[in-house]
Amino acid sequence: MRVGARLPGVLLLMAAACGDTGGDTAAPGDCDRDPPLSYDNFGQQFMDTHCAGCHSSLLPEPLRNGAPLGVDLDTYAGVVQWVDRIEARSVGDDADMPPGGGPSDEERARLAEWLRCAVRPDHDALQEPP
Ligand code: HEC
Repeated sequence: MRVGARLPGVLLLMAAACGDTGGDTAAPGDCDRDPPLSYDNFGQQFMDTHCAGCHSSLLPEPLRNGAPLGVDLDTYAGVVQWVDRIEARSVGDDADMPPGGGPSDEERARLAEWLRCAVRPDHDALQEPP
């Protein structure tokens, strides 16, 4: 009984390990955290703390420190829309957002996990034809 109940988690772990395309930094953990990282318990606070000081729909151009208009990360919809670029700029060895640094390695690992396990599935669901 117990062993059977645990098996899916193990398979998920193996799938995650094999699914990595390599070249990336350490895999940020499997997607079986309980409860999972969410916008409410992680993402909103991360984005507000580290990104929305420049990337907010509330900020007009002169107050954005050069952050492009439209790249707004103060809502979940904005994060979903920009997930590819957030991943490219804020996760891994080449991460250069925020420009002055700030998030710890631990926070970046959580960001990577949240993007991969929660945000990307939502993003992909929106891309599917009706
Ligand atoms: C101090 C201001 C500032 C903060 C804080 C900041 N950014 Fe930026 N961001 C910029 C500027 C300036 C640019 C435009 C220049 C560039 O692309 O490097 C930019 C551009 C971007 C872009 C669009 C360019 C692309 O590569 O597609 C993304 C996405 C982005 N930032 C993500 C983030 C994320 C995620 C965070 C938080 C982890 C963050 N930024 C925090 C200033 C900031």
